[in-house]
Amino acid sequence: MQLTRLVYVSNHGGITENTLEHILAQSRHNNARDGLSGLLIVGEEDFLQWLEGGKTAVAQCFMRIMQDVRHRHIHVLLAGPIETRLCGQSSMQLAETSKLDGDLAARHDIAGAFDPDALSEETIEAMCRDVLSASQV
Ligand SMILES: Cc1cc2nc3c(=O)[nH]c(=O)nc-3n(C[C@H](O)[C@H](O)[C@H](O)COP(=O)(O)O)c2cc1C
Repeated sequence: MQLTRLVYVSNHGGITENTLEHILAQSRHNNARDGLSGLLIVGEEDFLQWLEGGKTAVAQCFMRIMQDVRHRHIHVLLAGPIETRLCGQSSMQLAETSKLDGDLAARHDIAGAFDPDALSEETIEAMCRDVLSASQV
């Protein structure tokens, strides 16, 4: 199986805890079924999601995500093969920037809106690693 990752940002423009819980429950259920793992970073205005797994499963999941009206202006940051998973067994780890350590959020510039142009491959990976280790449950 070719392991693949896909990372995107999108805009939610303000989200309720209820909606977020629903998205997470749905994601965890589907991703466990499809062998996917990932991380969802929720900022004040934006989502950043890291999704990894088999190439076909990632593509099918992303096609569903793209059609979801709960976010808009999807912008793919990274897509391509990887050697190992970053998120391990976590079908979808959640990290809300408002609940993260302030230094960590400020260091990665994710305290407010996310700026896709400021996010290079290296900074995205470093940020996701940091956020994962800070929010592991
Ligand atoms: C920010 C965001 C992230 C999402 N992440 C996932 C995901 O990782 N896996 C998934 O199956 N659905 C995810 N969804 C939900 C999908 O867009 C879609 O509603 C869902 O896959 C449909 O599942 P169903 O066919 O079981 O109803 C996400 C939605 C949003 C708004």
